[in-house]
Amino acid sequence: MNKLPIWIDTDTGIDDALAIMIACKLEQLDIVGASAVAGNTTLENAFRNCADVFNLAGRADVKVYPGAIKPLIGELKTAAGVHGDNGIGGAIIERSKAPIETEKAWDAMYKKTKELNKDLTIIAIGPLTNIATTIIKYPDFVEHVKQLNIMGGAADGGNVSPCAEFNILADPEAAEIVFISGMKVNMFGLDVTHKAYLADEEVLDLYKIDTKAAKLFKDSTSVLLANRKKYYLHGLCQHDSTPIVYMVYPEWFKSEKCGVYVETRGNITRGKTVTDLWSDTKFKERNCEVFLDIDRQKFVKLIKEILSSY
Ligand code: RIB
Ligand code: CA
Repeated sequence: MNKLPIWIDTDTGIDDALAIMIACKLEQLDIVGASAVAGNTTLENAFRNCADVFNLAGRADVKVYPGAIKPLIGELKTAAGVHGDNGIGGAIIERSKAPIETEKAWDAMYKKTKELNKDLTIIAIGPLTNIATTIIKYPDFVEHVKQLNIMGGAADGGNVSPCAEFNILADPEAAEIVFISGMKVNMFGLDVTHKAYLADEEVLDLYKIDTKAAKLFKDSTSVLLANRKKYYLHGLCQHDSTPIVYMVYPEWFKSEKCGVYVETRGNITRGKTVTDLWSDTKFKERNCEVFLDIDRQKFVKLIKEILSSY
């Protein structure tokens, strides 16, 4: 089987952890590298969590590189209120014994991208700071990437403000650089990830699975589940798994080609990914595939199968 090479750039929070565990069990994927970025939590936590989750998934061989400690402009504002002080909901997992990489994310990502020229899909499931830094430092990076799947943005609404999603608002300047770069961008925003949720009874069903992966899922999501209603969440959205699952099951998704650009200066609208799936034809180009729907039943069934397979 010709595996699909992917690189995962992550702010290893709660849903990132499940996404990594899913990626490690999709045999059609070849995880050629990973990098950590500050976002849900500090870089230190994201870097450690990322390596430890790969280790738990039996993939301590995946090299994890440290990236940005803060957005391009301004200070880091984490989502510790949601992801906990350690970034994974307080879950305690074994420390990876893999060597600690010191090469910077943007240097390692660029090297691998050039090596796999036009065959590498980068999957960014945190703020886009590392991706933008790579574009700035290596202008030809864009020519060598096959595509960039991001969890971020929303054609309609937001989650950290009425019009901004966390990963984009965490670093709007980085996101703007990515959207104007000319890279093929697949945007898995809240339009699709709010439909990629686990209902309470589905979560509790997963908690019954007796595997180390399911234990990490339970230990990392229990507080969030208890607080779901406080956060007005209709379920536990598995945002970060969507751009990964799409690589293997594209038929489960619906999308539209759109023009998407990021508002970076608005007092109220900063961090909005501006598109409306219609009048965006007036933008200079329709630069992005915006994902809008998912077959939730199949998505949930896959999560249960994969957590049970560890
Ligand atoms: O808005 C959801 C996104 O922000 C997810 O990637 C989650 O992990 C947080 O980073
Ligand atoms: Ca994330």
